[in-house]
Amino acid sequence: MPSVEPGPKDAARILREADCLHTTAEVEQAINALAASVSQAYGSLNPLLLVVMTGGFVFAGQLLTRLNFPLQVDYLHATRYRSGTQGHEVEWRVHPKIPLEGRHVLVIDDILDEGHTLHAVLGNCRAAGAKSVKTAVLVEKHHDRKFLDIQADFAGLAVADRYVFGYGLDYHEYLRNAPGIYAVVEDEGGTGASSA
Ligand code: IMP
Ligand code: MG
Repeated sequence: MPSVEPGPKDAARILREADCLHTTAEVEQAINALAASVSQAYGSLNPLLLVVMTGGFVFAGQLLTRLNFPLQVDYLHATRYRSGTQGHEVEWRVHPKIPLEGRHVLVIDDILDEGHTLHAVLGNCRAAGAKSVKTAVLVEKHHDRKFLDIQADFAGLAVADRYVFGYGLDYHEYLRNAPGIYAVVEDEGGTGASSA
């Protein structure tokens, strides 16, 4: 990690040097496919879609415009503590406002990495009385560190175990607007970032 928090010039350099893993067209194709699967599963269930802020909002926005059936949308903000030694605790900043009791809930997030965040969100939704809870993520990171073998019910694109950004995923809060999925090219000191 750099000793000083990266600024806009660093973000521009990171984007210039990054590896593009999935182009805009590939991401859009993946979202089209996800929308078809979600429509089939939820078309008649009047679901509540819960967007995990901040990373999930770009994917959620694009998915939503492809869903042509009655649904409601709310959001929550849960983020992982990355500085603690445990690294597993999830901090809740905002809870959903719409009651989950008896609802079919689809949680929408940017990425399934180790899965601690989604695990905590799912537990919370069940405790709030949701009738069913499933997850949709744009990106799934491939490695063998998944918490309790958690899997996404709907997943768009697979990426290798690298730090990625774009389509809502950030590099130090920058580059959420990058129009594809990119991987940071590490310099010798390592430039990996972490904020959920
Ligand atoms: P998890 O709890 O390990 O699954 O981490 C989930 C959260 O960490 C995601 O919702 C993201 O916000 C963030 N995250 C994990 N990996 C990356 C990455 O490669 N780039 C950007 N954010 C990431
Ligand atoms: Mg997140």
